[in-house]
Amino acid sequence: MQTLGSRIAALIAPLDPVSDSLQSALRDVFSQAPQPLRDLLDGTWLGAPLHPVLTDIPIGASVAAVALDALAMGDRDASLERAADAALAVAVLGALPAATTGLRDWSYVRGEAKRIGTGHALLNTAALLLNCLSLRARHTGRRSTGRMFAATGFGLTTLAAHLGGELSFGLGIRVNRTAFDAPGDTFVDVAGEDDVPDAGVSAVTAGDVDVVLARVDGRICAIAATCSHLGGPLAQGERRDNDIVCPWHGSRFDLCTGDVVNGPAVYPQPVYDVKVADGRISIRPSKNG
Ligand code: FES
Repeated sequence: MQTLGSRIAALIAPLDPVSDSLQSALRDVFSQAPQPLRDLLDGTWLGAPLHPVLTDIPIGASVAAVALDALAMGDRDASLERAADAALAVAVLGALPAATTGLRDWSYVRGEAKRIGTGHALLNTAALLLNCLSLRARHTGRRSTGRMFAATGFGLTTLAAHLGGELSFGLGIRVNRTAFDAPGDTFVDVAGEDDVPDAGVSAVTAGDVDVVLARVDGRICAIAATCSHLGGPLAQGERRDNDIVCPWHGSRFDLCTGDVVNGPAVYPQPVYDVKVADGRISIRPSKNG
């Protein structure tokens, strides 16, 4: 059975050229921003994507506004009406940072995820517009019209939130791409000691899991090779000092600790214990990684 997101993606497919241009423009704009600002928007500092956190504010405030509107209608209570207006204003203001982080996430995605993300953004934009119209109607004495706009906006917000869920849970957008690696817990022979260059990195496989080996300050380190952001191949990335830079979107990871040096990744790379004996390298998942 087709999901709602798939149906919307099919409807939105003709907009691909527009979406592609917009994504390219967004990536250009974000690339001009200082790295700390980009890390702030991605949630690298938080250790979790920031967009889902920020969406709670406009969604929660919209729920409150609609509920207070309903109570105020029954009680004809001016203080409830003022509370509903304030909640709606929070929903409008809270939509702006949520939209900024959402656009940042969307600028990287492709195919079905791009189309569902476009639908998600269009629905949220329509909801924001309706909430602005609702505020204006309330301030010009047309409270019934304002309630209708807010309730309709809330319906669109709910639909948009569902698409956001499909993006995360159905397509794995911003899910840690190393979360389901299952490399076992015993040492596995992966390479000869001479296979690891003094500079650069080498790619090996432990079971079904791709791993990056690197010499760092005289020792050999190993981290997962699938980028936790969106699954980029870290072994094809550029080594900078003791870090590796993902070739897809530029996340940078420490080659020994797996820590995120800069985003857009927010989750560290899994780390492996390394044992060198008789010229052979074997690794196992580190309990400290
Ligand atoms: S896949 Fe996006 S930074 Fe690696």
